[in-house]
Amino acid sequence: MTLKFALISLQALLSVLEPKDPQDDVVAEQYLTDHATFNATTLCWTEDFAMVSMPEYNRKMQKLIEKGFPKALVKKTLEAVGARLNVALKKLCS
Ligand SMILES: *[C@@H]1O[C@H](CO)[C@@H](O)[C@H](O)[C@H]1NC(C)=O
Repeated sequence: MTLKFALISLQALLSVLEPKDPQDDVVAEQYLTDHATFNATTLCWTEDFAMVSMPEYNRKMQKLIEKGFPKALVKKTLEAVGARLNVALKKLCS
């Protein structure tokens, strides 16, 4: 199996739901029987685990701007490093 084939297979697994052959029985059960709650849960988990809160992000932006870096560069750098403040600062200083 080539790496390309493995990645294509992984992409297919992640993009097509298989609730009758699930990786997680609880999530699959909720998907099939209580879709509104499933939707609300996915939204909540996306916000909790896949997004940086705006107040936190803005605080980091402000900290770096106060150090004298231009706003556009700070924004671009924070986005490039997944909003990790220390990594962004190192990158801005290099
Ligand atoms: C759940 O979200 C999907 C995708 O946005 C939508 O098509 C579906 O109608 C929603 N179902 C419920 C019960 O809210």
